[in-house]
Amino acid sequence: MTSTPSPRTLPRAGVADTLRVVGSVLLPTIARGVIIRRPSVVGLLERADADRRSVQLLQRLRRTYGSGPLRLRIPGRRMVVLLDHRDVRRVLAETPEPFTPATREKRAALGHFQPHGVLVSQGSDREDRRRFNESVLDTPSPVHRGADGMVGGVRAEVDSLLGQVRRDGALTWAPYSAMWDRMVRRVVLGEGALADRALSDELRTLRATANWAFLHPRRRRLRERFLNRIESHVRRADPGGLAGSMAAAPWTERTDPVQQVPQWLFAFDAAAWASFRALALLHTHPEQLARARAEIAGRDLDRPQDLPFLRATMLESLRLWPTTPAVLRESITRTLWEGGPMPERTSILTYAPLFHRDDEHLEYAHAFDPEVWLDPTRAADWPLIPFSDGPAVCPGRNLVLHVSSSILAMLLEATELDLDQAERLEPLPGTLDPFTLRFPVSQRSGGVASRGA
Ligand code: HEM
Repeated sequence: MTSTPSPRTLPRAGVADTLRVVGSVLLPTIARGVIIRRPSVVGLLERADADRRSVQLLQRLRRTYGSGPLRLRIPGRRMVVLLDHRDVRRVLAETPEPFTPATREKRAALGHFQPHGVLVSQGSDREDRRRFNESVLDTPSPVHRGADGMVGGVRAEVDSLLGQVRRDGALTWAPYSAMWDRMVRRVVLGEGALADRALSDELRTLRATANWAFLHPRRRRLRERFLNRIESHVRRADPGGLAGSMAAAPWTERTDPVQQVPQWLFAFDAAAWASFRALALLHTHPEQLARARAEIAGRDLDRPQDLPFLRATMLESLRLWPTTPAVLRESITRTLWEGGPMPERTSILTYAPLFHRDDEHLEYAHAFDPEVWLDPTRAADWPLIPFSDGPAVCPGRNLVLHVSSSILAMLLEATELDLDQAERLEPLPGTLDPFTLRFPVSQRSGGVASRGA
């Protein structure tokens, strides 16, 4: 007797489990601010150890329903959450088609200030804008071709921060983030943008609006003023910033170079949080701090340097606390999976912390282990995806790792710091609020060195 196989369908979460995913994974991700962070919410989430709970929930769903993709019961919406590492690799590799990064949510949010940005572009527009981004950002190079021109500006900003640390007796978030804003204007648009604080303020307002995506009306006049401001900096094409590389990059009438710039400005924020957390990791792990110091000993940090250990430290900070926890895709066509078909227009959620902190699969899940990034065999087959992966991987990855590892190096070279409330990192929490980290100048040693001293 032959039996006909029953038509297979992807597993579907029950109502209670769907509500749990909405409450523990989706809402906190939205509440903390997708386009700009809301510091008060991040503090609350640390106290609730929110990301650890979300990971535990998704691990339980994987045991209950199998490895998915798991459909959620959300009215009026097709949505799945990925629970299997092979599915994550597939979706990221098969981007932008059939899995587009330009999801409805991202188009609604980024439409507030960069509707032509590559991340929310599709088809040949995406191809064209991606090529432009990769060229200006010098995507494949560990050290950007324009780094010689950038490093002096970065150094000047770090020196002025160090002066503040000396006066305050501590390194805290507010001056760090002010330094970061100035540094970013310099690196992206050149020295001529240094004084343009209004540019950063306007972008902050537009991002706060974008956090509300569909729910907030567009601020069209502000957007126009902001984009005009960028255009005037781009025209100047200062050689010390990315703007200086734009004229030589391949562009066509569909590229819209000016609208690629806001993402370069705001994406740097993630590295401010990650580098501040990286400092906290180093100052609670003396052996790793010693390795970092050994890496920079004797180097001339006024010249661009590739610093593999500090780079790996940044990557570990981003693994432990990914700054893009929800990597979203949307299926354009119907696709087939081991468990059954997935219809077109399905939103696909990869919750990065599930894979970065999956203690059912990774022995280093909750440890600070830079070796993971230095030994390519350690994570070869596993989705550690702070910068996403595949054809839509962050094209600024190398640039931002280089800039932030250089800043860490300059800070370490000049300071001996401690960390207040170091117990917040023991054990390493699921969520770490960077905005309340405080590093007093160490009383045991020289404190903050002056340059040339
Ligand atoms: C630590 C800092 C950063 C992190 C963790 C990061 C992470 C990411 C991630 C996860 C994506 C994919 C988003 C998605 O698929 O929805 C992305 C895309 C992108 N990032 Fe970054 N990024 C960082 C900094 C930067 C910087 C500094 C730049 C530019 C100067 C940049 C430029 C871009 C662009 C243009 C895209 C869109 C790529 C595309 O759609 O093809 N990023 N980034």
